[in-house]
Amino acid sequence: MPTITFQNPRGRGSAALSVVVEPGTTILDAAEHCDARVGHACGGNLACSTCHVWIHEGDDLSEPEDKEYDILDKAFDVRPESRLGCQAKVGTSDLVIEITEESLKSWLDENPDIRKREAG
Ligand code: FES
Repeated sequence: MPTITFQNPRGRGSAALSVVVEPGTTILDAAEHCDARVGHACGGNLACSTCHVWIHEGDDLSEPEDKEYDILDKAFDVRPESRLGCQAKVGTSDLVIEITEESLKSWLDENPDIRKREAG
């Protein structure tokens, strides 16, 4: 089974986290399995772009559909390695992923109690 590594699971400078998941798992679900902070303002319904991540190593992922590209157009700092975490399903190979600033901020917006605790 593939190992998914999040380089910055709790923001810049945080220690990497890895999780082993079943093939077919979305990146968003993999993040939730290991408490990596991938935002998901629309609940994984392909409507927000807050689950935007960059795939740095590995390319064994489900092919993006046109609607994923449409939603990615709303995201900041879109790169060739960009994917939406709620749509990209892992295959059988390991991946190394960086969570975008946009996604990390969204996650904190979705968890105001944690943001408040970490700020104070
Ligand atoms: S969680 Fe909204 S598009 Fe992925």
